[in-house]
Amino acid sequence: MLETKLGSLRLANPVLSASGTYGSGWEGRTFSDLSRVGGLVSKTVTLRPRHGNPPPRIWETASGMLNSIGLENKGVEWFLADTLPKMRTLGPKLIINIGGETLAEFVQLAELFCSAGIDALEVNLSCPNVQEGKLLFSTDPRMTERTVAAVKRVANVPVFAKLSPNVTDITPIARAAEQGGADGITAINTLIGMAVDWRKQKPVLSRGIGGLSGPAIKPVALRMVHEVAKCVRIPIIGVGGARTAEDVLEFLCAGASAVEIGTASFVDPAVFVGIVDDLERLLTEVGSSVGAMSRSMLRNLPQPPPMHGRQAELPR
Ligand SMILES: Cc1cc2nc3c(=O)[nH]c(=O)nc-3n(C[C@H](O)[C@H](O)[C@H](O)COP(=O)(O)O)c2cc1C
Repeated sequence: MLETKLGSLRLANPVLSASGTYGSGWEGRTFSDLSRVGGLVSKTVTLRPRHGNPPPRIWETASGMLNSIGLENKGVEWFLADTLPKMRTLGPKLIINIGGETLAEFVQLAELFCSAGIDALEVNLSCPNVQEGKLLFSTDPRMTERTVAAVKRVANVPVFAKLSPNVTDITPIARAAEQGGADGITAINTLIGMAVDWRKQKPVLSRGIGGLSGPAIKPVALRMVHEVAKCVRIPIIGVGGARTAEDVLEFLCAGASAVEIGTASFVDPAVFVGIVDDLERLLTEVGSSVGAMSRSMLRNLPQPPPMHGRQAELPR
């Protein structure tokens, strides 16, 4: 009833952790039985260690939070030696999120992780490309397609392209990821925002701006998941503001096949297992399944009316 598929990756249920919000999962192992979660997504791993941005880099907002962590992590060497073996003991499928400053770095990371043995890769395309004036990979369809294609060439596991919502239209980027061979799309990363300290008359966060996450962004994420679902055939992992099983069901209806939970785990680190239980209860109540709910709004879309008369003769 809860099973779902992301390309060739089978998950026992559609509930995943979101990158960067739950560490590697290891830190949360005492709060609940993580083997009952569909999958764990790692924080973005980069080739070299990164210190991240100076504090303050987290700020609570009215219905969410702003962060500008700056991809702090100890680098791939540390992750492979220390973190991955710990993650393997937790039980769920492991999706490793990678971030590069160049296309070559993405490829190198993908090669390293694929030879280490993981279940899937999530490519964080909200990284600045240092060879292209620090333009984010996912703001440009060409860079998105090339990066996904390059990672796919070396990957022996499904590759999910994680997209930024900070674009005018996400659909050409999603299509580019599909064109590049992505096995799925993760939507969305955080929305750029700002908090202001009026007494100091300056921004609260050290970098001035940060990424907004949490309940505030759920309607935006649902809209983008739906838009992407209408333009690609590959599965979608929805993310943005989900906290409850009902939120997960909304994402499934809008077009997702699985849902990542991020900011909600700051409030309740055992949130994932509660959602899995509630999902089972709600679906039993209505006699449905994750498979039947997933993309259901797309199946219900009104068909275009039949064309009559002169209109029907217009060249297509
Ligand atoms: C503190 C924090 C750190 C994050 N770090 C990453 C990261 O390293 N890589 C990434 O792809 N997304 C990262 N994200 C984005 C989340 O994975 C997710 O896309 C976003 O927070 C929206 O989901 P949510 O509202 O459920 O948190 C981070 C989000 C937060 C709040």
